[in-house]
Amino acid sequence: MRPKNDMKKIACVDLYCGVGGLSYGLKKAGVNVVAGIDVDESCKWGYERNVEARFVRADVADLSGDDLCELFPPAEHRLLAGCAPCQPFSTYGRTRQGSDDRWSLLREFSRLVEETKPEFVTMENVEGLASHRVFGEFLETLEECGYAVAHGVLACERFGVPQRRRRLVLVASRIGDAVLPEPDGGSPRTVRDTIERLPPIAAGGGPCDSDRFHVAAGLSELNLRRIRNSVEGGSWRDWPKELRAPCHRRETGATYPSVYGRMRWDEPAPTITTQCYAYGSGRFGHPEQDRAISLREAAMLQSFPSNWEFVPPGEEIHFATIGRAIGNAVPPKLAEAVGRTIITLSEAGRSPRADAVA
Ligand SMILES: C[S@@+](CC[C@H](N)C(=O)[O-])C[C@H]1O[C@@H](n2cnc3c(N)ncnc32)[C@H](O)[C@@H]1O
Repeated sequence: MRPKNDMKKIACVDLYCGVGGLSYGLKKAGVNVVAGIDVDESCKWGYERNVEARFVRADVADLSGDDLCELFPPAEHRLLAGCAPCQPFSTYGRTRQGSDDRWSLLREFSRLVEETKPEFVTMENVEGLASHRVFGEFLETLEECGYAVAHGVLACERFGVPQRRRRLVLVASRIGDAVLPEPDGGSPRTVRDTIERLPPIAAGGGPCDSDRFHVAAGLSELNLRRIRNSVEGGSWRDWPKELRAPCHRRETGATYPSVYGRMRWDEPAPTITTQCYAYGSGRFGHPEQDRAISLREAAMLQSFPSNWEFVPPGEEIHFATIGRAIGNAVPPKLAEAVGRTIITLSEAGRSPRADAVA
């Protein structure tokens, strides 16, 4: 982290902060993250513990610009960051308002940008958002408010994240040009670089003594036989016919190319999703141990530090809750690259806030 006397140059509030992947990366770059806002109370402990910033439990739709302004301390520049989730289809959304209604939380982000006009805005999202009308509306709002905007789809493995994950990233500035972070130019980090040194564990066994999050979900007898028949980088196609599910027995199996897959040691991991702990939900088998990756391994493949704590000591570990937080997160290394870019833009465009576009 940057020295403390350097920490007040940009103050950030993170909307839809989750467990804090985006906040942590921004903070690591030197941004003063003052608060994260999320409706999910289960994120609070991990957020405050690891990001060391205030967690505000609130529905972003209920917040006003004035509420947000109260969270920002006096700082030269303010950054509003966020990763608005896509809402599941509601009947109302499907029949009355069309699919863009799923993105109503992005509209709330847009409203808060209009109401607070921070010097900088950044958002991260799934790459498919770029083709939705709501993203076009978001861009229009930024332009009407006087922002220069840069956006594009970035490959996380080019930013030190040991994972193939493509994300739409936007950086906007009211005090100068906007640019996206540049890839670091090094070779992508691999599964081996990231998790090989962790102690071996068994599927469904107790957590490892040295790390309670290094724990892997249990496997049924059938799935144990299946994974024992899988090779590194392989999938259900390696299994003898009697172990295959009916849908896999069809000749092509084209619709399920990588379920029940094992990762490869010497490549980046596949995209870590909210189901990253479940062997049957993707290519989440460990490269050589007969189990799915552990929660710790999933978090490290998302570029969380290896000592990240998700729940307080003594609290039961729920795979679904922690898996969701991990899979939903902005990889901290990507966020750090975004943070460094915004700091550079801030230093280039430094001016009293009063001089910014009103
Ligand atoms: C994609 S995740 C954000 C991940 C986070 N940026 C990170 O890097 O760890 C979206 C988050 O939005 C939260 N959320 C959903 N609806 C919300 C709402 N109406 N107000 C505030 N937070 C909300 C969810 O609880 C979830 O944690």
